[in-house]
Amino acid sequence: MKLTDVEIDEIVNQVKASKKYKYLCADTIRDVVKIGSKTHTSLKNLLKYAKKKCHLILASYLSELDYSSSGEELKSAFLSGDQDRITHTCLNIMAKHASTRERMVILNEFYSRLFKITGTPKRMVDLACALNPFSFRWMGVSKDIIYYAYDNNMQTVELIKLYFQLEGLQPLVEERDILCNPPEAVVDVGLLFKMYHCLEHRQKGAGWRVIEKTPAQWMAVSFPTRNLANRNVDIFSNYKQGILEKIKKNRWNFDIVEFENELVLLINKGEERGQ
Ligand SMILES: C[S@@+](CC[C@H](N)C(=O)[O-])C[C@H]1O[C@@H](n2cnc3c(N)ncnc32)[C@H](O)[C@@H]1O
Repeated sequence: MKLTDVEIDEIVNQVKASKKYKYLCADTIRDVVKIGSKTHTSLKNLLKYAKKKCHLILASYLSELDYSSSGEELKSAFLSGDQDRITHTCLNIMAKHASTRERMVILNEFYSRLFKITGTPKRMVDLACALNPFSFRWMGVSKDIIYYAYDNNMQTVELIKLYFQLEGLQPLVEERDILCNPPEAVVDVGLLFKMYHCLEHRQKGAGWRVIEKTPAQWMAVSFPTRNLANRNVDIFSNYKQGILEKIKKNRWNFDIVEFENELVLLINKGEERGQ
């Protein structure tokens, strides 16, 4: 079905009007509608499809966070100046999302092992970050770091904005769909944690597209290997061959760093590009 921009916007607004999708980035919904319009012949069915697809996109990323009380806890912790309290508040927030909750057991060694290979970044982008920016205190990077954090969930973005402000970091947090609007700022390291397979589910080839388009010297692309129930989840092997072939084709180098529940593929893209 050929739709005008106005018709597309109308459907996006209708999806966004529902309570469930109001915090989802409009670009994400627009992309879903545009793709759906290729195979749907009625507006009613297209709207139904878009809502179903947005439900699937959101269902994989649910966090159990009470955003408003977490914001208050952060403010109060920073106001107290008690560093242990601040650290605990960050841990409590990270515990509210499966991806960061799983990473908490390896957090003390996670970034030091990655940055030992990539070098400690001065510029970094955290793609589809969810609550990962709350691990800033475990990263061993300077407060002067240029740290871009992008997510397509507005509530998450607002909470990270508050945290960056309280922590004294530059306000480089944005509601952004990394597939529709890939980052343009050049960085030393791009983080794409536990997200490659989600992007591939949304659109075949999307995971690699984000790696290619991000103007980073290094890309740290991670996959979960064990879930919270301690079951092995071997997602990487589904994509390994394809990714390694593409790395070879681009004449890039890579390293693999394995933790007890997460595998990180470090891709060295060589000279940073763009600017
Ligand atoms: C599986 S979690 C990844 C969490 C985080 N990278 C980590 O490992 O701690 C997915 C997060 O990415 C966000 N997301 C999903 N698709 C996205 C997209 N296309 N652009 C930006 N953010 C996206 C979701 O809102 C959610 O917060």
